[in-house]
Amino acid sequence: MMKKEGIDALVNLCSRRGILLPSYEIYGELAGFYDYGPIGVSIRHRIEGLWRDMFITGMGNMEVFTSIIGPSIMFEASGHLSTFTDPISKCEKCGATYRVDKLLQAYFEGKGDTKRANEVLKMGIEDLDKALRESGIKCEKCGGNLGRAVNFNLMMGTDIGPLGNVKGFLRPETAQGIFTDFKKLARAYGIKLPMGIGQVGKAFRNEISPRKILIRMREFSQMELEFFFDPGDKALYIDGSEIKTANLSKEVNFLSREVQEGGSQDCSKAKISELIASGLVPNTLMGYLMQNEADFLSSLGIAEDKIRYRQPMKEELPHYSKGNIDVEVLIGSDYEEVIGNAYRTDFDLQNHQKYSKEDMSIVNGDSKVVPHVVEASFGLDRLFWAAMSNSLYNDDKRGWDVLLLSKKVAPYDYAVFPLQKDDKIMAKAKEIDSRLKSMKLSTFFGQSGSIGKRYARADEIGIPNAITVDYQTLEDDTVTVRNINDASQIRIKVGDIK
Ligand code: GAP
Repeated sequence: MMKKEGIDALVNLCSRRGILLPSYEIYGELAGFYDYGPIGVSIRHRIEGLWRDMFITGMGNMEVFTSIIGPSIMFEASGHLSTFTDPISKCEKCGATYRVDKLLQAYFEGKGDTKRANEVLKMGIEDLDKALRESGIKCEKCGGNLGRAVNFNLMMGTDIGPLGNVKGFLRPETAQGIFTDFKKLARAYGIKLPMGIGQVGKAFRNEISPRKILIRMREFSQMELEFFFDPGDKALYIDGSEIKTANLSKEVNFLSREVQEGGSQDCSKAKISELIASGLVPNTLMGYLMQNEADFLSSLGIAEDKIRYRQPMKEELPHYSKGNIDVEVLIGSDYEEVIGNAYRTDFDLQNHQKYSKEDMSIVNGDSKVVPHVVEASFGLDRLFWAAMSNSLYNDDKRGWDVLLLSKKVAPYDYAVFPLQKDDKIMAKAKEIDSRLKSMKLSTFFGQSGSIGKRYARADEIGIPNAITVDYQTLEDDTVTVRNINDASQIRIKVGDIK
């Protein structure tokens, strides 16, 4: 029987098989930083490829690749220097730091006081400090007193140039490079609205308490799509086709702000078209992206009942937002945000126009407009973790773990195993391996260990099919193909492998 495995088993698997490695670990723990080993890279590339197929090429959008480090004035314009903060408190005895809002929320939830836990989200720094004093919460590590709550900016700074007199920051989101390049791209590529510009790249946040492996990291990857449009346009055309609200008929699990305010986390089923009509989703463009996100998550093998679309509480909204919908996936026992959809209005382009004095308007029809933006921001690492954690099962019949990834994100298409240590079999297996590679199929060639051990390894790292080459192959050009789902085997002609 197949039994779903928990996060601990996944962490163990990733460590044992070198799928994820804590960065620079030989020098001690550097919290919030992870490296991907070859299998991890392979799965990541596939997730990235699916995103690109669907959200860039599939929608007729453009992709860019912009710099990680930006000058401080740019982050002044984007609002990150003044508002990208979390409240922290430091233990006066051992120096351990805590995120005050999270600490208080957990404290009130522990007391069963959901109302007060929700109120924490609305508190400014003074109120947070007051609530921290009243709660009497002590340092979890040493029992010491917690110091004053202060706002801490999450951006990582650096000095640019040999004299170090130009202050720069590592971007906390990939989006800003897209906004600052927008006008030049519009001119060079003759952009017509609406048009999406996306990129895949690293983002950096000096998170106070990195946790849950890939869920809260200090260096992570985003796949962001900034969709520029004119809110004055009556109809929405994407890649030449009109997108009508009524046709966005996908039903999703929706958790509204109102329900959360009432202290519940119960989702209801709702059609995206209805969510747009009722104003819970700010516009058709966001609804269109949400519908595609549902397809995208399904192609990652994440079941619909593990996904919810959540309207964040007002206090959770980023400084630029006029309506957000978070897409959350059940990972272990918690829902985690994997995609953030935000109606950023013209906030970013207007501010960059103001600070840089560059005109950010473009011509749309008869008028000049500074476009508005709907953003879909995907966390690549969290999506990787969501796909992995939702795929790991233990099969008591086989006696080992099986990673039932969607074929679309599996690290390899085929494992190729020569059964016997025989030169002729090895040469045949190599020939089959080359043939598959020439068909643009990826392969894992395994020649060491018993065949049972090799199957176990293939199952654990999620290879959907394993080809075994044996003496019969030399006679009739057939191989056995083993399916990961039920370990069943069929014998087929080499020429029939697709
Ligand atoms: N440009 C908008 C933006 O960055 P966000 O909700 O802060 O919005 C977008 O981030 C996505 O990036 C999230 O949905 C999540 O998947 C991922 N993400 C954010 N912070 C992260 C962190 N510390 N570690 C890993 N992924 C993170």
